[in-house]
This record gives sequence, C-alpha cells and structure tokens, in this order.
Amino acid sequence: MKILAFETTCDETSAAVMKGRSLRSNAVYSQIKLHRKYSGVVPELASRAHLEKIPVILRSALKRAQNLPPLKPGDFDAVAFSRGPGLPGALMVGRVAAEAAAELSGAPLIGVNHLEGHLLACEFKNGRAARPLEFPLLTLIVSGGHTELWHARGYGDYRVLGRTRDDAAGEAFDKVAKLLGLPYPGGPSVEKEAARARGKGPDFPRPFMPGTMDFSFSGLKTAVSYYLASELGGDFYKKGLRLQPAQRARVCKSFQDSAVETLVKKTSQAARSLGLKRIAVGGGVSANGALRAAFGALEGFEVRFSEKAYCSDNAAMIALCALRRLEAGGYKNSLKVAPDLAEPGW
Ligand code: KG4
Ligand code: ZN
Repeated sequence: MKILAFETTCDETSAAVMKGRSLRSNAVYSQIKLHRKYSGVVPELASRAHLEKIPVILRSALKRAQNLPPLKPGDFDAVAFSRGPGLPGALMVGRVAAEAAAELSGAPLIGVNHLEGHLLACEFKNGRAARPLEFPLLTLIVSGGHTELWHARGYGDYRVLGRTRDDAAGEAFDKVAKLLGLPYPGGPSVEKEAARARGKGPDFPRPFMPGTMDFSFSGLKTAVSYYLASELGGDFYKKGLRLQPAQRARVCKSFQDSAVETLVKKTSQAARSLGLKRIAVGGGVSANGALRAAFGALEGFEVRFSEKAYCSDNAAMIALCALRRLEAGGYKNSLKVAPDLAEPGW
C-alpha cells in the first residue's frame, strides 16, 4: 500500500510518502521565519507561501521516496490531505494539490482530520508506524489552534469531551511570549527561558474550570499581562518595556507550570472519570519537556507521546491516518475542506 499525503493547515507545508507501515519521506517547509515579525501566523501570507512551496515540497518528498516525478497512474494507492481544521486559504492549497496528484496517479482521495493526525503521530517509531495505539484511550490534543480532550474508542471513533472556550494552550504560549518580547513560536521560547529560571516566580492561577472538561487559557494569559503591567507600568507593551532576563525566566516558568498542571490534571481527571488507563498526547505543545515529565510522573496511567519530530505539523501523520482508514476498510468520502471541523471522527 503506497500513500502520498499533504499537510497545509497552518504554517507548515508538508508532503510525505508511506509504503506499507514504513515512512519513506516527510518533507516539511516551515514558514516560521515569514510570520516571526508579526509574532503569529498571518493567514494570507500563509496561503501564498503554501502555494509557492507546495510543488517544491512535493518534488522533494517524491525524490526522497525514490519515486521521481512525474507521477504516473499506479504510483499510489491513495492520496491524502488535511481537510481541516485549519486556515481556509491554506487548506485549499493542500486540497487542490492532493486532487491533482490523485488524478495523475489514478488514486482515490482521502480527506483527513488534522487533529486525528496529531493523535496517530504517536504511532511512529524510527520512521515506521510500529507502535499501534491501543484503544480505548483518552486523547489530549494541544496545538496552536486547539486544546481538546477526546474519548478515542478505536480508529476513527472519537468523541469530543471538552475543548478550549477561548485560547488554545499553544496560543497562550505564543501570546505570553509576545508580551515578554520573546520570538515566535512562543512555546519553544518560553520553555527555553523557563529552564533557566532560578528562585520563586509569581503565582499565576490554574484555570481548572471544575465541573466541565472544557479548558480556558485566556485568563492565564491576562494574569501574565497584569503582572507585567504591575511591574513595568500599564503601557509597558506600547513602550516596548521588558523584564530583566532573570525575572523573565521566572515568569516563563510560572506560566508554564500553570499551563502544564492544568493540562495534566484535567486530562487525568477525565481519564479517571471514564475509567481509562491509557492517555495519548499530540500536537505542537506536546513537544514541551515539562509537560512530558508531568505526564510521565502520573501514576496508574500509560501515557503516550509522539517522537518530537512528529509533534508539530507534518504530512507523515496524515499519511498514517489514511493508511489506518484503508486498513480498516472504512474508507468514506470525506473530501470537503472544512476550516472548523466540529467532530473529528471518520
Ligand atoms: O501542532 P502545531 O505545530 O500546529 C497547530 O496545529 O497549531 O502546534 C504549534 C503550537 C504553537 O503554538 C507553538 O508555540 C507550540 O505548538 N509549541 C510548544 C512547544 N513547541 C511548539 N508549546 C510549548 N512548548 C514547546 N516546546
Ligand atoms: Zn497541528
């Protein structure tokens, strides 16, 4: 079974090839540099960059998989793409590329939920889909645009238990980094700073939101902003005032502690309430070392993460979702590009 996949939901342009369970190539172009000066992703620029890079990335993925272009009928058994959730213009680029590739190779087209991709990324080990997930399990997706808890009962069988009501966890990292004058993307910047922290930092709230499995991170971001205003003055941001490095590191650590504790506690509570012993964590924020350590320290649960290379957006995880769907024989037409997919199941 040979699958070609595309990923263009946000600011990574990616194409990947899988042969059986082996990942043959996973070409990724990150637009981070393009968006850095705006401290966040600018949708129109993202769409244009996808358009410019997708032929290059496709060629590179095909070359690395030793399947030189041009595409011929019979090259692939399926062509997959991220159908959403994501930026509308960005999604369309991936869809159109996938459609053209499917037409040329005479293969069916499979639209994949991007967040399912983040979950299944946990199955890769040394370039193979070698560690199948065991169901049922509790899924936490933590990315720049989403923070969701799912009850995963099998491949394609996901029930959303809760999601963020405002900012996603990754978005909170990005916005806090911006307030502190740290570079985009904020997650890695904040984590790096936090690792340097010495001594006690400010106490930020833990937005546990009892009684619901939903999340809320905008209040935590606001708490950081209030703290900075109290230290530097209300117009600190406009004036470009910044904390001294040692204090900035402590603020990063305090913020990260709060975000991590909230994610771990809410996820383990949800798992307990459903009697689930297995947890899988996916998405860009799952690369965070403090989050991995806190989940690792949980007693009574088996917690899975993806290898770091597959935490952020990539087409390999999309190819793998398509593979699982073909293996299950449950292929259904799901081609509509959907910027706000509410339900992630097949
Ligand atoms: O999954 P992803 O690559 O893209 C989306 O689907 O959104 O996630 C990107 C997000 C960004 O908000 C980024 O700041 C965050 O993941 N992130 C991290 C870390 N690495 C990336 N957050 C915390 N710690 C990290 N090490
Ligand atoms: Zn993502």
